[in-house]
Amino acid sequence: MSDWLWWRDGVLYQIYPRSFMDSNGDGIGDLEGIRSRLDHLVWLGVDGLWLSPCFPSPMADFGYDVSDYCDIDPRFGTLADFDRLVADAHARGIRIILDWVPNHSSDQHAWFRESRLDRTNAHRDWYVWRPPGPDGALPNNWQSIFGGPAWEWDPASGEYYLHSFLKQQPELNWRSPGLVRAMHDVLRFWLDRGVDGFRIDVVHRIQKDPELRDNPLIEGRGDGYRGQRHIHDENHPDVHATLREIRRVLDEYPERMTVGEVSLMDPAEVGKYYGQDDELQLAFNFSLMRAEWSADSLAREVERFEAAVPESGWPDIVLSNHDISRHASRYGAARTRVAALLLLTLRGTPFLYYGEEIGMADVSIPPDRLQDPLAWTLHPKLSRDPERTPMQWEPAPGGGFTTATPWLPLADDAPSRNVAAQRGDPGSLLCFYRDLIQLRKRTPALHRGSYRRLPAPDGVLAYERSAPGSLARVALNLTDEAREPDLGAGRVRESLGTSFGRSVDRAGRLRLDPNEGLVLCLDPI
Ligand code: NOJ
Repeated sequence: MSDWLWWRDGVLYQIYPRSFMDSNGDGIGDLEGIRSRLDHLVWLGVDGLWLSPCFPSPMADFGYDVSDYCDIDPRFGTLADFDRLVADAHARGIRIILDWVPNHSSDQHAWFRESRLDRTNAHRDWYVWRPPGPDGALPNNWQSIFGGPAWEWDPASGEYYLHSFLKQQPELNWRSPGLVRAMHDVLRFWLDRGVDGFRIDVVHRIQKDPELRDNPLIEGRGDGYRGQRHIHDENHPDVHATLREIRRVLDEYPERMTVGEVSLMDPAEVGKYYGQDDELQLAFNFSLMRAEWSADSLAREVERFEAAVPESGWPDIVLSNHDISRHASRYGAARTRVAALLLLTLRGTPFLYYGEEIGMADVSIPPDRLQDPLAWTLHPKLSRDPERTPMQWEPAPGGGFTTATPWLPLADDAPSRNVAAQRGDPGSLLCFYRDLIQLRKRTPALHRGSYRRLPAPDGVLAYERSAPGSLARVALNLTDEAREPDLGAGRVRESLGTSFGRSVDRAGRLRLDPNEGLVLCLDPI
């Protein structure tokens, strides 16, 4: 299609760089490693890669604590490696999305080092500083998402600074014109290098109540982060003007995009981050990840997000990422195929998380190998390490990921569950993902069409996708029993199902086994 737009019509894929491919034998993935595996991504059919942060960082939060926004951490390579990765990806038709962390930097960033020197330096107001109350009290009742108060005392300059996450992640002040200019220049630095877009970390927190008023408390929920209504420390209305300015920077370049992590529970609030096509191009839709695995609950979330996204906007679909248990573990191995069918046939840009295409599940990490700071600041059970383990490439020591000891242990099933094994098996989950991606690409109804839920027996999610000259119907049996949905009339041009080899040539009443799903591409009516 001539109006094909990569981030809207294509399929995007998240890489956690530490865990994708290690090229230099230090047990940590790197940019050269990613470059060496581009052919897997081309074969799979993805259109863009979102790289979790690869900037210089003390790694207190594994790169979400940036100490220099305009360079590459030596663990991941050099700027020259980055340029090579962009060039090779572009040569293969793959776009690159960087992970921009504008809410906070590392406490080791030169800006913060200067900011904390005294109360009068030029970078003081690039961060959020407040004097103590008369009795030394904290400036307000805000709490860190990673545990404890959101304020850290700085004895040298005699004030508190704000942090929503670790104390090593001081909050940047988006009310400071100097900071705003510097962060816009960071965007231009990468855009000039050919970067195609940015995933924006915790974008809903970059503006807060200017008076820093206390959040109201929720009775019975304790005195931590969960015990407050977050009306003053996130989702402040001023965020939208800030985003419009960011969008104007992006619009200085053709076909660039942003996708924002707007971690709010109400889809109507998330939808506001699209603005009037002048803020984010995409806001992550986390509602399916949070929903119960049932037809009614998934359909309800799809419809709520559809209603929230403005007409000029476009939804997206996410089932897994680096912050949440992998969906092969959440839903169970028997459901990975039907989940793939959902992800790749709904209306909206699908985001895959590396390894989901081979069914990677959470890996249990021995206590002495835990890495994620949440294991200490909150609880070992809340560690995000299980969903961040190395990609399983080959039945080799180190899983084909590394020749050294990997930074996190590989899954026990790596010798059998890996890319090499599944590429050779046309009935594998990996080949199913590829077949689905190719079908989505050649079928306008699937990559651009409207969405309409269809009546179906209890526990079956059925919907129609339709675009001019293109029609598809999908039925997903989400139960553990057989079901017989009726997919209406029509001659089937192409079909693809979770059961390998099943093909259907007429719509109508179809029997679906437990956890079985089908997509039918029909003659348009
Ligand atoms: C959201 C990121 O996805 C998460 O990994 C990180 O810890 C926090 N933001 C803080 O940057």
